[in-house]
Amino acid sequence: MRMYDIIMKKREGGALSGEEIRFFVNGFTTGRIPDYQASALMMAIYFQGMDERETLELTLAMAQSGEMLDLSAIRGIKVDKHSTGGVGDKTSLALIPMVAACGIPVAKMSGRGLGHTGGTIDKLESFPGFRTDLTREQFLRGVNEIGIAIMGQTADLAPADKKLYALRDVTATVDNMSLIASSIMSKKLAAGADAMVLDVKTGNGAFMKKEEDAQALALEMVEIGRQAGRRTIAVVSDMDQPLGRAVGNALEVKEAIDTLDGKGPEDFRELCLTLGSCMLLAGGKAENVEEARRLLCQVLADGSAKRKLARFVENQGGDPSAVYDTSLLPAASIVRPVPAPESGYIAHIACDEVGIASLLLGGGRETKDSVIDLSVGLVLNARVGDYVHAGEPLAWLHANDAGKADQAQARFLGAYEFSDAPVKCGPLIKRIIGEIHT
Ligand code: URA
Repeated sequence: MRMYDIIMKKREGGALSGEEIRFFVNGFTTGRIPDYQASALMMAIYFQGMDERETLELTLAMAQSGEMLDLSAIRGIKVDKHSTGGVGDKTSLALIPMVAACGIPVAKMSGRGLGHTGGTIDKLESFPGFRTDLTREQFLRGVNEIGIAIMGQTADLAPADKKLYALRDVTATVDNMSLIASSIMSKKLAAGADAMVLDVKTGNGAFMKKEEDAQALALEMVEIGRQAGRRTIAVVSDMDQPLGRAVGNALEVKEAIDTLDGKGPEDFRELCLTLGSCMLLAGGKAENVEEARRLLCQVLADGSAKRKLARFVENQGGDPSAVYDTSLLPAASIVRPVPAPESGYIAHIACDEVGIASLLLGGGRETKDSVIDLSVGLVLNARVGDYVHAGEPLAWLHANDAGKADQAQARFLGAYEFSDAPVKCGPLIKRIIGEIHT
């Protein structure tokens, strides 16, 4: 078999066989197939697309390019959760203790943030002492004893995807539906859960700007999951404005804890209840959505979700007292309002710009090796559709450097558009795809 022939076949619109796809994935992972041939194939796929069978074959080949985690030592149905990413997306921090308190074991591999979007691991490091460099045994024991363990993604998880994604990133071949679906699902399949719930974001702050594209991606991933024998549900949710109000690591942790206390923003609580219901249904802990939501509301109301978070933090070396006293979380020295420049209804918030404002404060990584300031960020005071008067605080800015605060404020204000006429904001949950009983 020759890589040249595989590129030519796809260039001419042919469907690749499983053998051809595995030849490419194995050869590329081991370095036998050079980047320039892999790039040519990615561009051919970008233009010619892949059918459902090819997408599944590519997903499986990438999942099997490294270690396939074996979670069979963990009792119960393991349900994983994945978000395609957005600004202020701190969902895992509240959702995981909620579902774990309902009896779903969560064994999760998470990443760090790069650029203007955050990562769960950075956020969790707001708890002084928290560690994610667990051994396999510590990871499995954490899930069996506490119900939750989170570790950093190992280098051996779907290495083909890691290499290919880096290549796609510099060859303008990221935004192809089959390539995105196979990239995400290869990592999820390798991570070993029995079932998964995917939060596919859509809107100006999402990877998929258009709702129909987000739905198509969600459908494709649910189908891959089904064919791979893993129960998969996708929720298409709004990212036309930041989720909740807090953007920035420790600020987001505080908002997640407030939500566990029943005092969080309504949109964030609703997303946690929706994704949580899907996880409980996928994990066989509820018969229908109504029962699932009742269970989740119960673990919020009786404090067991919050206690679960504290036990998990403690088990991974963190200080659990910060769960009960959020003033122990990293805090910025400067907290100041960002006044609204004019009166009017908020018509548009460019999420990416809000994320970049937080990055400019030091809350995100410019490069893989940047050290981030966990304490900084923004807490939004108004959402799309709200009326604000000129001079009222549009947000509160948390900073440790006045110069960076000025820069971030200018960037943040550039994210807003105002209107004299009332503005309607779209629904938070656009669609749920997959097997779900109402
Ligand atoms: N996230 C991934 O993991 N892969 C993609 O291709 C796009 C987003």
